[in-house]
Amino acid sequence: MIMKVVIATHNKDKLKELKKGLSNLNLKILDLSSFPEIGEIIENGKTLEENALIKARCVFEKTGIPAIADDTGLEVDALGGKPGVYTARFAGENCSYMDNVKKMLQVMKNVDVDKRSAVFKTVIAFVDSKTELLSNGKVKGLINKKIKGLAGFGYDPIFYVQEEGKTFAEMTIEKKNIISHRGRAINNFIPVLTSYIKKQQTTKESA
Ligand code: IMP
Repeated sequence: MIMKVVIATHNKDKLKELKKGLSNLNLKILDLSSFPEIGEIIENGKTLEENALIKARCVFEKTGIPAIADDTGLEVDALGGKPGVYTARFAGENCSYMDNVKKMLQVMKNVDVDKRSAVFKTVIAFVDSKTELLSNGKVKGLINKKIKGLAGFGYDPIFYVQEEGKTFAEMTIEKKNIISHRGRAINNFIPVLTSYIKKQQTTKESA
């Protein structure tokens, strides 16, 4: 039987990347548009792991369907690893992607190119009645001095990947999903989830 999962995010951009990344698995993927009663989930964890689990647990509890959540943070070396868990709110509560990008360009304006290193990290959490699974992915890059590219979302127009010679916003979603923090977290998650599903099926068959 095909397993149903619900992706625990209101962020349409993340949802698109997660759905694409998980599309080769034999899953029926639902999202929060099927559960309009689930409003904003308060992410008050101190780490990406805690926040990913908060979101996946909340959606599993409210829907009874196994839930998958992603929490992502950008750690900039010149800022001592900030904004980290505050990446979404770097420019303040309810700020837009562009507010965050502008604030990052502003605070980094006097930082030399060789000191603009940063890392994007994603934690994916899966929660059902029996287990909680976690997986991680990260990618190193530089905070570009200017906005470049139109694709993607969030900090993509200023996150420059040296090996590609491009910002994330200059890449196709397919390319970004191969090398990005989220793409890598998904790739690490797939074998873990596959083996969990197989174990569940074997247990059911032998019961
Ligand atoms: P959260 O995981 O919902 O806390 O979101 C963190 C914030 O990081 C988002 O609001 C975006 O601004 C940003 N973000 C998350 N994923 C990406 C990405 O793949 N590229 C660029 N920015 C991202």
